[in-house]
Amino acid sequence: MNEQIFQQALLNVQARRMQAISEHDRRYAEVNAKIPQIAEINSQLAQTGARIFGMMQQGQASEALLDSMRQENLEAQRICKQLLEANGYPADYLDLHYSCEKCSDTGYFGGVYCDCLQKEIAAAAIRKMNESAQLQLCSFDQFSLDYYKGRVTEQGEDCFAVMRRILTACQTYAANFSLESPSLLFLGRTGLGKTHLSLSIAREVLSKGYDVIYDSIINLLEQVEKEHFGRDKSDLDTLGLLLNVDLLILDDLGTEFNTPFYVSAVYNIINSRLNRGLPTIISTNLDFIGLKKRYEERIVSRLFAVYETMHFIGADIRLLKKKNSKSLI
Ligand SMILES: Nc1ncnc2c1ncn2[C@@H]1O[C@H](COP(=O)(O)OP(=O)(O)O)[C@@H](O)[C@H]1O
Ligand SMILES: [Mg+2]
Ligand SMILES: [Zn+2]
Repeated sequence: MNEQIFQQALLNVQARRMQAISEHDRRYAEVNAKIPQIAEINSQLAQTGARIFGMMQQGQASEALLDSMRQENLEAQRICKQLLEANGYPADYLDLHYSCEKCSDTGYFGGVYCDCLQKEIAAAAIRKMNESAQLQLCSFDQFSLDYYKGRVTEQGEDCFAVMRRILTACQTYAANFSLESPSLLFLGRTGLGKTHLSLSIAREVLSKGYDVIYDSIINLLEQVEKEHFGRDKSDLDTLGLLLNVDLLILDDLGTEFNTPFYVSAVYNIINSRLNRGLPTIISTNLDFIGLKKRYEERIVSRLFAVYETMHFIGADIRLLKKKNSKSLI
């Protein structure tokens, strides 16, 4: 297990525990101040508790005495609940409310990691993975259609009209995102805005509270390979995350090494996510023929049959931006 990720996850779970306890203390103080009968009961219980504790230490507390204490305690709790309700509070107002009832927000249950800690570990791993993606840098707002104006492809396509349609489709996709959303395939040469729009979608879907993993296929597969061959001593399961995350964005398909391990990993990811019905966005500089040369028929046919394809057109915007900044000088 990556120590930093684990510690962060555990801290998050334990912060919830502290939060639950301090909320409990706050409610106690509030109720004690507002309902004097409850304050009286609480103080009597505390006194009896202290007396019994003293007797136990001196070996003087008999089983019968402890039993009557327990009864008294239960009765006091019952009265407290009645008083709470009579004063307009819910009966369980003074109970401790943990986010995870199973482990009381300790992160451990039956000596192993609780589900809530596992979830936190996955979320921390995803955050770490996305750190390098500079998600903040790209948004729909910063995507300008001006670059495509007046440009027509050799095939006679109007770049502005096509890219406006793609931009609108991506905005709608992000706005309506759900686990049932379709998968998308972004095709087109380098510099046409595929990564920019992928990141814009990632940013908006993340802000809706979904888990998103965005990275270049090279980075992701390198990590999967390291873990697979035991070269990564951390106990992370990146492949597991890629298969299960709400939205996976694989950038630059086709730039990874052409090894049997990578090809089968790509197939496994695409296929498993399709079988689970989870949305994936893939972008690539390869065209249909390039993809067919590179991957097995079964991958390419699934991509084109099931993914919604968007063909990006225009001129390399990286170059246009450079030219513009030069002409301004
Ligand atoms: N329509 C656009 N408006 C503003 N900036 C853009 C636009 N399209 C691309 N860019 C910028 O141009 C650069 C190249 O775009 P990118 O999305 O990386 O292209 P691709 O992934 O298709 O190779 C990036 O810095 C990106 O932010
Ligand atoms: Mg790109
Ligand atoms: Zn738990």
